[in-house]
Amino acid sequence: MKVKVCVGSNCTLMGSMNILDQIDGLKDIIREDPDSYNDEELEVEAIKCMEFCKKTDKNVAPVVVVDDETMYNATGQAVMEKIIKKIRI
Ligand code: FES
Repeated sequence: MKVKVCVGSNCTLMGSMNILDQIDGLKDIIREDPDSYNDEELEVEAIKCMEFCKKTDKNVAPVVVVDDETMYNATGQAVMEKIIKKIRI
């Protein structure tokens, strides 16, 4: 699974670093309990502004893309839930 977290200035301001930290924490949880999760590797990438914030006047930050699903105004909790739903056995 590929997770891209925007670390452009708008998204950073709105807490994307926190989301990155939480995903890191989740990786530890998975490592400690590998039987509860499928083997799919959790690939996390921090990406400079993905341009979503520039294409609209609305506030979309922070932006996280999980596989090919884009999450606007992402929260750590919503991102964790989405990831866990996909990898939990
Ligand atoms: S700073 Fe994240 S989409 Fe622009």
